[in-house]
Amino acid sequence: MTPDPASFDAAKSYRERALKTLSYGVSSTPRGRQQPAPIVADRAAGAHIWDRTGSRFIDYAAGYGPLILGHSPSCVIDAVKAELDRGLRTASVHEGEATLAELVCETLPAAQKCAFVSSGSEAIQLALRIARAATGRTKVVKFRGNYHGWMDGVHVAGAPGNDGPGTIGQDPGAAASLTILDWGDTNALAETLNSDYAAVILEPVAVNGGCFAPPNGFLAEARRLTKQHGAVLIFDEVITGYRLALGGAQAVHGVTPDMAVIGKAMGGGLPIGAVVGSDAVMEPVSSGRLLHRGTFNGNPVSIAAAIACISHLMEHAPTLYPYIDGLAAQLETGLRDAAARNGTVCTVNRTGSAVQLALGVAEMRGLADTARADFPATARFAGHLLREGVQIIGRGLTYTTAAHDAGDIAETITAYDAAFKAMADEGGAP
Ligand SMILES: Cc1ncc(COP(=O)(O)O)c(C=O)c1O
Repeated sequence: MTPDPASFDAAKSYRERALKTLSYGVSSTPRGRQQPAPIVADRAAGAHIWDRTGSRFIDYAAGYGPLILGHSPSCVIDAVKAELDRGLRTASVHEGEATLAELVCETLPAAQKCAFVSSGSEAIQLALRIARAATGRTKVVKFRGNYHGWMDGVHVAGAPGNDGPGTIGQDPGAAASLTILDWGDTNALAETLNSDYAAVILEPVAVNGGCFAPPNGFLAEARRLTKQHGAVLIFDEVITGYRLALGGAQAVHGVTPDMAVIGKAMGGGLPIGAVVGSDAVMEPVSSGRLLHRGTFNGNPVSIAAAIACISHLMEHAPTLYPYIDGLAAQLETGLRDAAARNGTVCTVNRTGSAVQLALGVAEMRGLADTARADFPATARFAGHLLREGVQIIGRGLTYTTAAHDAGDIAETITAYDAAFKAMADEGGAP
């Protein structure tokens, strides 16, 4: 069912109103770039979002990842309601914190100790601080195209061809202790690492760069080299944690880092992030020597949501992960076939339940290919899909959730054809 075009008129007029008082009309810049206009979510259930005009959209943005159980999983909603009934208790010590830590330690191979914060970016900041405290060193290796949140100290080298800050206004000095290498380049890592390095931080599966699985041996070699040089190996599993598998990419690829950062899917849609690691590496924070601060850290509502979400994932993992990956595999094939039918050059990469579309490149195996992809055209394609009632992330990323079903997939594949055809009709298809 395609949305009423009035939806987009309503979205545009909301945007005009919002722009008057709300910077960029949104609360996170990428949301403001949605084409033809950022849809205004009035309510959501399962895999669907409705706007105020009553138009329904199949949602594969999934909150930019967190909504692994969809928009209204009863386990999470009930847990949150029950928690609200007990009073907010913001910044209190409460039992849920230890319960969640126990679940995380049970599920993630790297986790012997946890520290909670409210977002992935905060968790990265804390992880690097702990790594520096644990080693007494400062330098950190970061890889091109890996995104580790928006803090000045790591928000660099995100886009191909730009090793500098990710945005205007950053303190260029904040990232001075980073050494930037190509993701997957084990030789460069071997040549770089020495006893000056506190940590190597990486996305074990490069979802942000283009949905790349790690090259053979890369994670194992990073493990060996960091051990050899006494540096902390940090996996940024903010996307892959609880999405790729119950044990994250570290379980899938059989390499256990010293420390991992998680967020997004662990909270089932509520704001939370965590640093987890071995007893040894977490000692500075576990002992109270290192300051881990934050008014909203461990807030009872987010903790309750995360307990409910992880408990559900633990109970259903043997069927849930194959289910969401299977749906994503159908979208992968559907996208490729629809592009071929419409004569559009593109790449579709998939890792688990994440599918990346990039127009203009016939294959995308690494960041050099990502640099050649036509992301403005990909965003226009996402705009045409939205007109057909399907929401993906504008840079071409799709997440399936446990709430999507076969009907959603069939509707989406029909929408792919219509969107590719619209691109071809406007002469904008690569
Ligand atoms: C791999 C990775 N790390 C860290 C972050 C930052 O997380 P947050 O947006 O919750 O601050 C993100 C966000 O997309 C991410 O993809």
